[in-house]
Amino acid sequence: MTDDGFIELDGVEKVFEVRRRTGFMRRERRSVRAVDSLSFTVARGEMVGYIGPNGAGKSTTIKMLTGILAPSAGRLRVAGIDPSRERTRLAHRMGVVFGQRTTLWWDLPLIDSYRLMHRMYRIPDARYRENLDRLVELLGLSDLLDVPVRQLSLGQRMRGDIVAALLHDPEVLYLDEPTIGLDVMSKARVREFLRQLNAERATTVLLTTHDLQDIEQLCSRVMVIDQGRLVYDGALAGLHEVGESERILVVDLERELPPIEAPAPARVVRVEGPRQWLAFPASESAAGLVARVAAEYPMVDLSVREPDIETVIAKMLTTPADPPPSPHSPQDPADHAVP
Ligand SMILES: Nc1ncnc2c1ncn2[C@@H]1O[C@H](COP(=O)(O)OP(=O)(O)OP(=O)(O)O)[C@@H](O)[C@H]1O
Ligand SMILES: [Mg+2]
Repeated sequence: MTDDGFIELDGVEKVFEVRRRTGFMRRERRSVRAVDSLSFTVARGEMVGYIGPNGAGKSTTIKMLTGILAPSAGRLRVAGIDPSRERTRLAHRMGVVFGQRTTLWWDLPLIDSYRLMHRMYRIPDARYRENLDRLVELLGLSDLLDVPVRQLSLGQRMRGDIVAALLHDPEVLYLDEPTIGLDVMSKARVREFLRQLNAERATTVLLTTHDLQDIEQLCSRVMVIDQGRLVYDGALAGLHEVGESERILVVDLERELPPIEAPAPARVVRVEGPRQWLAFPASESAAGLVARVAAEYPMVDLSVREPDIETVIAKMLTTPADPPPSPHSPQDPADHAVP
């Protein structure tokens, strides 16, 4: 196998058979096609965003890539290995972080989890030491090594999980919502770390997220999956074009005024007292619009809101005949946290 296809999927499917109670002693069998004829390749050293709405099949794909689940059909290879058949062999070469659940031992201090992994993965002592020191330093965990995992905050725990996933120098790292529920500072820290990891070690990274900024700051390539099928594979900028997504300029005026007359296609989509919301194409710079508004209106403050992934994808998936989705629905990634 060439390096061009470090991760290779060809017509991969995953069908779950679910049994549902429909009444007393009555059960109905139903199959859920979570992943449907999915084909893509990821080259060694690439950092790819893997996005899509809830239930699209992202986590199922990652579970197949890590060998936790076997595909129902199709061919899947990572570094030439069939993950579900040779899971242990592959485990030494991959790391995985599930944002919604930890791989660390809940009751043990962080350092004890790492010691266990040292033994489990048979990491040579010198390499373990070196990796531990470097990762703990980079992710700012040195003061937390003796704290039991359950006492860590979400952001601290997530950083702890990332260290655990990387102690054995994996060639590929799967991240399933690694910034879910993190505050701005922690997100920035995790992103900076991932960028560095990818640049310095050429670690291949597949990143699932509902946070568009994760993708914007980290991935030059993004794959969009919807109902188990790949519906887009390309640059993030292209996704904005396909989805004709919009950004929102939020303007605080000195006082309540009639809607700002903005140059088309920018337009006011909401007014609340002195605050007005203007939608404009995400592919355009905000500078021109800001200058126009500032020149003609008494502006005291402004901010620009990025479209969230759901809005971009919704736009992309709706046909022109469909009514346009609401101009902006701010969405906190935490909305997708475990119920
Ligand atoms: N073990 C399972 N048994 C039955 N159905 C499942 C199982 N795991 C996932 N599914 C179904 O497969 C589909 C895809 O689920 P998956 O978890 O892969 O979505 P996702 O893209 O990760 O969504 P989210 O953004 O909410 O995390 C969903 O319809 C889900 O209900
Ligand atoms: Mg998921």
